[in-house]
Amino acid sequence: MAAQLNLILFGPPGAGKGTQAERLCDDFQLPFISTGDMLRGHVKDETDLGQKAKEYMDAGDLVPDELILAMVRERLLEDDARDGFILDGFPRNADQATALDEQLSDLGRRVTAALLIDVPDEEVIRRLSGRRVCTEAGHNYHIEFDPPKHDDVCDQDGSELIQRDDDKPEVIEHRLGVYHEKTQPLVEYYDEQGLMRRIDGTRAAADVHGHIRAVIATLRLEEDV
Ligand code: AP5
Repeated sequence: MAAQLNLILFGPPGAGKGTQAERLCDDFQLPFISTGDMLRGHVKDETDLGQKAKEYMDAGDLVPDELILAMVRERLLEDDARDGFILDGFPRNADQATALDEQLSDLGRRVTAALLIDVPDEEVIRRLSGRRVCTEAGHNYHIEFDPPKHDDVCDQDGSELIQRDDDKPEVIEHRLGVYHEKTQPLVEYYDEQGLMRRIDGTRAAADVHGHIRAVIATLRLEEDV
């Protein structure tokens, strides 16, 4: 079987995962799979899953594993993920990491690397409180660091820009707590397997992008893809 790039992108809320996703999609022939985006799609379409997930998301809590695992399992079996993927927002706790390993192992695959976009809490708060997203396609802006050309209008598709429900100050703080308790232990999990690659997320978005591209290019050479 040809070598694959099965990549995980993770980091605290607001680290810039979605911002980098938009850039990386153009660079690599790999599907970008964001569980947050998938869940927001379900909420928007008012599916059964969306109705169950919404209250957890609005509160900044993790959506229960049984809902997430079924959704991701199905997505990874789609054709475009056959030769690799970039996962964003999954796995988010130890049980999800184990489930991913098991699914990949059943398919004769494995995680190639986990890329951590590292940003301190005070920067997370600054970024999330100023974030605005477009209602059409979720394009990201920041009122200070990356403002749109016209207030509250998306440069790319002209739709309205809004603040996400989970970007309220008290919810941001809760999301950070959940990240430190549930998700951060995965750094050690992937470190122990020699799979962790750290990216300094405090730099400008273009520099972070350059660093991630370089890491993925090196992995490609190592994996001979
Ligand atoms: P999810 O959508 O995954 O949210 P998150 O991890 O909290 O990440 P964000 O989307 O908030 O931030 P980001 O890192 O993408 O930052 P962005 O690029 O926007 O999850 C949402 C919810 O869904 C969860 O709380 C949970 O309920 C549920 N969920 C999802 N997956 C789950 C799972 N596996 N299990 C259970 N529940 C799950 O950037 C932020 C801002 O900073 C933007 O305004 C941007 O313009 C700006 N910015 C970005 N980079 C830079 C930079 N380098 N310099 C300056 N500003 C920057």
